[in-house]
Amino acid sequence: MKGIILAAGAGTRLYPASLPISKILLPIYDKPMIYYPLSTLMLAGIKDILIITNEDDYDNFRKTLGDGSQYGINIEYEIQYVQKGIADAFLIAEDFIDEDNVALILGDNIFHGFGFSTLMKNAIKNNIGATVFGYRVHDPERFGVVEFDKNKKVVSLEEKPTHPKSKYAVTGLYFYDGNVCEYARELVPSKRGELEITDLNKIYLKNKQLNVEILGRGFTWLDTGTHDSMLQASNFIQAIEFNKGEKIACLEEIALNQHFISVSDLEYKLSLNTKNNNYYNYISEIIQEYKLKQEVLV
Ligand code: G1P
Repeated sequence: MKGIILAAGAGTRLYPASLPISKILLPIYDKPMIYYPLSTLMLAGIKDILIITNEDDYDNFRKTLGDGSQYGINIEYEIQYVQKGIADAFLIAEDFIDEDNVALILGDNIFHGFGFSTLMKNAIKNNIGATVFGYRVHDPERFGVVEFDKNKKVVSLEEKPTHPKSKYAVTGLYFYDGNVCEYARELVPSKRGELEITDLNKIYLKNKQLNVEILGRGFTWLDTGTHDSMLQASNFIQAIEFNKGEKIACLEEIALNQHFISVSDLEYKLSLNTKNNNYYNYISEIIQEYKLKQEVLV
């Protein structure tokens, strides 16, 4: 299973805040936005990840995440030179995907909820085409919208409809089988000139191979595409981290929990790059907790 993070947008909606650097590298509370979608892929157990960036920010992304070895994963990078839409990611990533199954997550999507890792791992295991996630929102016209019949069967998908047929948005996390690149090649640009992810999902729907999982009340999904939603996301992360004394999307902690790296790996890497700040002090605490647990087990 491969993973792709689409982080190529120019972020013009957030100018001038996103003028000096990609919106996906701007902070959501205490870490760059890209940490959140990357943490989602890692929680799904995915270790081979391609980040698609715009030309200007290619070096900034590499500087932020490197080759991923510090998290026990492999990160590669590609550039989307012209913004041709989300589904274009599969044309750019065709060699990387190499007919494997693949997950795509949008760089500005944040997911949080108990049991999300298991839910994604089950979705991967049971996927027979495409699996996407529906989430109830108050403003569905901003998103791809999924309509269900009485038996909760999917009847339609529409991209940013003026009159949405339901309150359920399709979130920016998608799991596909090995046919995805072939289907992406069939797409034609929409009225806004983009290869739409919704059109790709419609192909799977037509083939009766689209599964929509609803993320219920226990989950939070935030699309941080506006200044307000970025601030709301920061406040949300701050509130949870402050109350619980636990971080959301701490990549080192997730790498440890997923057994991508060992405690001694992490301790060694931290010793090379120690900084006296909240994030690194948190990692030191995690290491100490792990060591104590191991002592108890021994
Ligand atoms: C994109 C997709 C839309 C999806 C949304 C999720 O919208 O086109 O179907 O619901 O991401 O974040 P955009 O980011 O282009 O507004």
